[in-house]
Amino acid sequence: MAHGSATQTHSKLLRVMAMIILTLIFLLGLAVLITWIVIKPKQLVYTIENGSVSNFSLKYNHLSASFDFVIRARNPNRRISIYYDSIDVSLSYDDQTIAFNTLDPFHQPRRNETQLEAKLEARDAALSSGLAKDLKIEKSAGKVQLDVRIKARIRYKVGIWKSKHRTLRILCPSVMLHFSSSEVAQRTFCVIEN
Ligand SMILES: *[C@@H]1O[C@H](CO)[C@@H](O)[C@H](O)[C@H]1NC(C)=O
Ligand SMILES: *[C@@H]1O[C@H](CO)[C@@H](O)[C@H](O)[C@H]1NC(C)=O
Ligand SMILES: *[C@@H]1O[C@H](CO)[C@@H](O)[C@H](O)[C@H]1NC(C)=O
Repeated sequence: MAHGSATQTHSKLLRVMAMIILTLIFLLGLAVLITWIVIKPKQLVYTIENGSVSNFSLKYNHLSASFDFVIRARNPNRRISIYYDSIDVSLSYDDQTIAFNTLDPFHQPRRNETQLEAKLEARDAALSSGLAKDLKIEKSAGKVQLDVRIKARIRYKVGIWKSKHRTLRILCPSVMLHFSSSEVAQRTFCVIEN
């Protein structure tokens, strides 16, 4: 008899503990859900607004040129601000990187749009003869298509909480630049690759 009541107490205790654990898991889930709903994270948006190429010279399959881009970074979030701790911009022509630069770190407030100016210089970049040939054809047609890649190390800030670093890889594909300085490049939408 005494033995039976001991197992009964034991299983009662187990049941109570299971209830407590389930309640804790439920409350934790609820807290995460409420935080998520309140913060409502939204995707960051990047576009290339304008761009130009100047000082173009292609000799013996070596390219020198100055490229200017206006990158627009939009943070649509009401409660999240962004620390851009490092921003690398690279330019490639048919998968070959021809120019690279870094931009100044900055803190982007909530619901903010910032235009960044990126100047990239190709200095005697060696191209394969096939690429050089293609580029010459594009030059004579008056415009060239390039890919702009941005690698940014960012942190999120919500209230006083700051997240860990994460790396954003952004691709702005087929940005069309005109050799005639009077033409504005078309807006190109970029995609976040991770
Ligand atoms: C073009 O080259 C000249 C001479 O090297 C330089 O002074 C100028 O800043 C360059 N133009 C651009 C837009 O970078
Ligand atoms: C975005 O933030 C930058 C830097 O804090 C500020 O200079 C700029 O005026 C802001 N732009 C808008 C549209 O709020
Ligand atoms: C945008 O493009 C036009 C035409 O090429 C140019 O005059 C202007 O300076 C460009 N803006 C920027 C910020 O590069």
